[in-house]
Amino acid sequence: MTRLAIAALLLFAAPPALSADASVLYKTNCAACHGAAGKGGSGPAIAGKPADVVAAVVNMHPKPMNEIKLSAEDTKAVAAYVASLK
Ligand code: HEC
Repeated sequence: MTRLAIAALLLFAAPPALSADASVLYKTNCAACHGAAGKGGSGPAIAGKPADVVAAVVNMHPKPMNEIKLSAEDTKAVAAYVASLK
């Protein structure tokens, strides 16, 4: 158990593994409303939107998104991930 927790910590603390972490961030914070592939659900389709636009929206916390709490770094990572979706 402890070993697993440490492994998980190391995994999330390691800076180069950006894309894997970003997809997890997306799944846990965005997919419920925007769909697993960003094609939309209760929220609009966002796949392929420019990363700076996505980050700006997340930072503005428009109404159903006001519960989202991501660090600036995680916001950047998830925005880049959304932009990479097709
Ligand atoms: C609780 C549901 C919900 C969650 C969770 C959520 N969104 Fe949204 N999002 C919405 C809704 C609804 C809108 C449309 C808001 C509006 O137009 O007023 C929206 C709008 C957006 C927009 C603007 C789209 C456009 O075409 O203008 C972007 C970009 C976006 N969300 C990204 C994200 C990202 C990235 C996450 C995860 C960090 C996320 N959202 C999490 C519901 C959600």
